[in-house]
Amino acid sequence: MFLTRLIYASTKTEHFNPTSLEEIIEKAASNNEKNDITGMLCFNRNYFLQSIEGSRTNVNKTYNKILNDKRHTQIILLDYSEINTREFSSWSMGYVPTSKLSAQINLKFSGTSEFSPYKISGASAYMMMLELKKSLPSV
Ligand SMILES: Cc1cc2nc3c(=O)[nH]c(=O)nc-3n(C[C@H](O)[C@H](O)[C@H](O)COP(=O)(O)O)c2cc1C
Repeated sequence: MFLTRLIYASTKTEHFNPTSLEEIIEKAASNNEKNDITGMLCFNRNYFLQSIEGSRTNVNKTYNKILNDKRHTQIILLDYSEINTREFSSWSMGYVPTSKLSAQINLKFSGTSEFSPYKISGASAYMMMLELKKSLPSV
């Protein structure tokens, strides 16, 4: 099975309520563990940036479910690549909270100090996530 990485950006909707984030992270972690999907999710009050990696079939199946989720919208594919090795293998879904999305990190990988995943290239989004993973506890 080919290893594949997919990165997308999206925006929360009115269906996203105060308990949604926790529910999404829990669901993602349990489903992903079953499907050998690993990855990372960034969220900053409005926007999501997520990377998922795993077999091509499972990455596509998971992305299809994510695309149909009413809790977010304006889902833009930033990167879809065949890869030789996983980068987020320690996390069924590593969560990066707003506090880690510092002005310094945003400036390093985009044209602005704000977290604006629609204004970042797929390659920069990937590199930013590699930097952010250094701040995550591995599980
Ligand atoms: C921002 C966001 C990220 C998500 N990430 C994942 C994920 O990594 N894996 C996953 O299985 N579901 C993820 N979901 C949830 C799916 O959209 C969907 O609700 C879930 O996969 C349904 O699971 P089920 O088929 O077991 O009911 C995410 C949803 C949102 C809004």
